[in-house]
Amino acid sequence: MKRIAFIYSIAVAGISLGLASCNAEGDYPGTEYAPQMYHSIPYEPLSQIRNEEEGMWLSNREDEKGEFYNSNPNNPYGMTMREPVANTVPRSTDGSLPYRLRVADLEGAALVENPIELDDQVLAEGQQLYLQYCTSCHGAGGEGDGKVGAVIGGVANLKGGAYIDLPEGHIFHVITHGKGRMGAHASQIPADRRWKIVHYVKQEIQAQ
Ligand code: HEC
Repeated sequence: MKRIAFIYSIAVAGISLGLASCNAEGDYPGTEYAPQMYHSIPYEPLSQIRNEEEGMWLSNREDEKGEFYNSNPNNPYGMTMREPVANTVPRSTDGSLPYRLRVADLEGAALVENPIELDDQVLAEGQQLYLQYCTSCHGAGGEGDGKVGAVIGGVANLKGGAYIDLPEGHIFHVITHGKGRMGAHASQIPADRRWKIVHYVKQEIQAQ
């Protein structure tokens, strides 16, 4: 009987201790199991623990600060990231600026030059991408006779009439935003690839 009472009191003590550690609220995470697994030692851009004492009880840091201290005192607000300079514009990985011309601004688009230098490899990639994204409607030769084109009808013949003289920027704009019954392709094809397709359309499809 005594043994059962002993086991019982150990169980009660265990449960109450367990429950007592569940009191997380606000900034307090509650009692953590193996806290060093949760707290990053390197500076984190979005984690800001500015109290130098925090985690002192298990700290073995060389700078003698608390284990969880994680702010950068040299930057505003103790951030790890610096705020970008005002009016900073993000560039894509190839260094180009984002394309911001509005859908209706076809005239502005016509003035934009192709930033991708033309060479054989660019042309080969352009061909591949044209086959992948445009042939279904415009046909391999660009005459508007693709299989899907035959169904939806009214697909532009890229080799005919006024289309032959379309400026490169205009074609890029149409691929980007779509036009009339053609849908936008900006979400499927990154800008540099769209320009490669433009090269292919101009050099191969329209030159023949
Ligand atoms: C789903 C079918 C479809 C696909 C895919 C498609 N197009 Fe079109 N495209 C059209 C249709 C339809 C038109 C005629 C739009 C209109 O004037 O209503 C058109 C028009 C055009 C024009 C002429 C724009 C103008 O100023 O009138 C160009 C250039 C063009 N497409 C290029 C492309 C290129 C390059 C691709 C591949 C990235 C492509 N299209 C993919 C259906 C398509």
